[in-house]
Amino acid sequence: MTMQRSAFLCCLLSHVSLALSIDISKVQAVNKVDFQPNKHYYHTHSSGALYETPVLIENVLSREECESICGTIMQELGDEYVSIQRKVRYLEDDEIQIETEIAEDTLMNAFGYMFESHHDDAFFCFCEGLLDQYEGLEKVRKILHNARESLFVNEECQDRDIFEYFPEDIRPSDCVVIAGEGATSTLHRDPYTWTGTSLCLEGTKLWRFIAPKGACKPKANDIDSRVHEIDEALDSYRLPSVAWDDDLYLSAGWQSDLSLYVSRSDDIPSAEEFASLEEHNSEKVMELMDKIALDVDRLVPSADILHWLSIRSIDDSPTIFTCIQKPGDLLVIPASWWHQTYALQPSMAIASQRGSMSRDAKRVIEHIFDTTGLKIDKLDLPLVIQQVLNGSYTGEPETIVNALFEVLSSHT
Ligand SMILES: *[C@@H]1O[C@H](CO)[C@@H](O)[C@H](O)[C@H]1NC(C)=O
Repeated sequence: MTMQRSAFLCCLLSHVSLALSIDISKVQAVNKVDFQPNKHYYHTHSSGALYETPVLIENVLSREECESICGTIMQELGDEYVSIQRKVRYLEDDEIQIETEIAEDTLMNAFGYMFESHHDDAFFCFCEGLLDQYEGLEKVRKILHNARESLFVNEECQDRDIFEYFPEDIRPSDCVVIAGEGATSTLHRDPYTWTGTSLCLEGTKLWRFIAPKGACKPKANDIDSRVHEIDEALDSYRLPSVAWDDDLYLSAGWQSDLSLYVSRSDDIPSAEEFASLEEHNSEKVMELMDKIALDVDRLVPSADILHWLSIRSIDDSPTIFTCIQKPGDLLVIPASWWHQTYALQPSMAIASQRGSMSRDAKRVIEHIFDTTGLKIDKLDLPLVIQQVLNGSYTGEPETIVNALFEVLSSHT
């Protein structure tokens, strides 16, 4: 009897300690009408440290608006060829192997594939620049742009986006992202150290983030520098992204081959099962999805990530944050937060980015100088750039961008 009990207790304790050391929290969610950038996204610690946290802004668009945008995109772009990524997972010698294939097909057919997708044979499509080209999409572009920008530029807040003034051929553009059940994005953090956004139009997306060490309780003055510990732990590498001329890259993201979703437990409902559950009780489905997102025993990260998370001390453990994004929800993604999505259901979303005047402009300029390897004495930089770098600039975004590209032209 005693032995049985101690064995039971031991098992209980080991479970508890695992649960304690891998701390998953929910991303804060706010309704569109309540969202204030300086309250929910930008934070200043009492030490003076600046930091941001992800925020899920709900009901940015109505269901009807989302459906109508999806319809217009399919109507205008359905025949366009896109690259479809197919990931096949299989077991070999007790290890999960992944094989990736890329195929070209129309967006309409790609969308069809998303309904045949499963965890072990998953389809994913990340279409960059697709929305930019068509006149028939002018209205959709405007709705998407306004939905995003009105959150940051309004009567109370004037946090404009410097990318709007970048030369057109290197300006970051919106991406149409479609994912079938079981599909994952790469585990990455974004180039330019900008603010990322994702607007879900159909289905749901499950997100997990890795908070930079101390991101929610900053101790140091520079949160960004602390993300390098995560970069290292994830064995990350750089991916050059936007080229200014043939051989000068302005930006580079960070990517890892590890995953926050290596395997899933058998009790997770299939996309079809979720769809039929939704017809009866959509709130229950959201609750169930939340539970799955929070549970690393059901949606299991790479062993290397689990190990690394479990050996951190409680005090400064980088924490995993998670949320379920539904149609009409816009997710705001801070520059230095690693993230990856998983699809429990097929979905369509628009990924965008902004370079906010208040915080991102400085980081974007530092990122460009860093990536290009330009070494210019601070005092030789235009006054405007000096002011942006020391946080004292209060003028127009256009002036910053003009000064920046003058520097780049004269030094490259
Ligand atoms: C920022 O830089 C500008 C230009 O070098 C300088 O005039 C200004 O005093 C600096 N402000 C602060 C707060 O350091």
